[in-house]
Amino acid sequence: MSSSDLDVKDQGLMQIASDDLNDNAKQLHGTTDTNRVEADVTFKAYMMCAFASFGGIFFGYDSGYISGVMGMEYFIDTFQKDQRDKPKSEKSLPSSRKSLITSILSAGTFFGAIIAGDLADWYGRRLTIIAGCFIFMIGDILQVASSSLGLLVAGRLVSGFGVGFVSAIIILYMSEIAPRKVRGALVSGYQFCITLGLLIASCVNYGTEKLNTSASYRIPIGLQLLWALILGIGLFFLPESPRFFVKKGNVAKAREVLARLRDQPLESPQIEDELAEIVANHEIEKKLIPQDSYWSSWAACFEGSITNNSSNLRRTILGMSLQMMQQFTGVNFIFYFGTTFFQELGTISNAFLISLITTLVNVCSTPISFWTIERFGRRTILIWGAIGMAICEFIAAIVGTAKEGDKNAMKAVISFICIYIFFFASTWGPGAWVVIGEIFPLPIRSRGVGLSTASNWFWNCIITVITPYMVGTDQGNLGAKVFFIWGGLCTCCIVYAYFLVPETKGLSLEQVDRMMEETNPRGSAKWRPTTTYAQEVGLVDAAKADVEHKV
Ligand code: BGC
Repeated sequence: MSSSDLDVKDQGLMQIASDDLNDNAKQLHGTTDTNRVEADVTFKAYMMCAFASFGGIFFGYDSGYISGVMGMEYFIDTFQKDQRDKPKSEKSLPSSRKSLITSILSAGTFFGAIIAGDLADWYGRRLTIIAGCFIFMIGDILQVASSSLGLLVAGRLVSGFGVGFVSAIIILYMSEIAPRKVRGALVSGYQFCITLGLLIASCVNYGTEKLNTSASYRIPIGLQLLWALILGIGLFFLPESPRFFVKKGNVAKAREVLARLRDQPLESPQIEDELAEIVANHEIEKKLIPQDSYWSSWAACFEGSITNNSSNLRRTILGMSLQMMQQFTGVNFIFYFGTTFFQELGTISNAFLISLITTLVNVCSTPISFWTIERFGRRTILIWGAIGMAICEFIAAIVGTAKEGDKNAMKAVISFICIYIFFFASTWGPGAWVVIGEIFPLPIRSRGVGLSTASNWFWNCIITVITPYMVGTDQGNLGAKVFFIWGGLCTCCIVYAYFLVPETKGLSLEQVDRMMEETNPRGSAKWRPTTTYAQEVGLVDAAKADVEHKV
């Protein structure tokens, strides 16, 4: 993109001659009314969009079951044969083996999420998710069948690719099909399923850990096949994203799937208006972000200046850094290391119970976001959520450090950790996923979401690797002081959200694109659209526009 194009884009003045339009697009008639850029939706249509959130179960269950399984006696005996003769209480896997088994999945998900971005543009969002379910099942079967480390690790790597496909493209798919007024709530449903997955994993582990057969680990691993089957088969019956067909230039197909998604007749004027808007926006973006080759379409994600709010580079950095900051809140410290940490504090009799409680608080608090994310907006809840988390973490750090070993003080620390989880689950948990699905323009959306999801897995993995060194009694042994670090990082999240995250609530994805061009994050909540893309590219029939204006 030339710098003059960028200037024009900055000023929101980009015009496109109707002669430049794709032939199919020229037949469309859009609206000049900024409130009519999306068709009405029926209950059935809401349900279709909501189904995809089920994909979150993969993510949560996969993150949740492995630490428990690695502590199971039969699993240790199978994958670390030199432990067989030790008494039960002394058996454990060496850290390097634990780290390999845990992190190999993140490696798979990291690359899976990036590759999935390409596939979603070539073959469609829906097919990429179905392929992810299939790959995941192959990996899972290898893991269930394994009784040697090599096969287990290979299985986890393959499954990781599948989880990467699913976790990135579900967000893309849901953001593209959901109606704008409930898009945040529906994508938060995905986060809710993540939390359910974590909960189911701890319950299944609890149920099978006492078995002294290979079923103790094969059941928790094998159960995941069910999630893949439900999601894969369910998606088979759902329509593709209309934005995918628009990107492919197939307007007729886009109309067909949009009508199914909104549960309206093909020839409905509302479908016509919504489609015209998506097409017009894409025609403008295509002109601004030409993608002549495979590499240039990747390069497009990094184009523009970092100081420009709406440049592709800025959006890519925003998506990737938002996911990084979500990991920096320290939430996975509680979910991955909670049990060990509470045991090491020494004053808690049933550490497992406490981690079950934190997992339950996570599940029960997430639905609050279905309402708050649409009522107060993404930006607001991210700022207030970070404030809430930082306060709780500093209190936990101060009380835990000043009154080390005091039973009542530890109860207070645990209560504040639960309130911290409440803040995470109702704000940053869903918020980070919702925002990455909304900030990218169509030409780079699938890759942008893929890169952002990969960043989540990357930082998730880094935290998994370094945390034991911070709190391990034979290492940094920080104890409750570790919450000073998480509290400090949450303080950075406040500043980050205030200066960098724009408000996207209630806008169509095309209007988000325009908002980012016309204002900065701090002014974004007040921004309102004044024109439609259809109007700009001349896809409005004059008689219709006249009637709309009179109304
Ligand atoms: C995060 C995960 C975390 C989970 C907890 C997700 O949004 O990305 O890393 O384990 O929330 O609910």
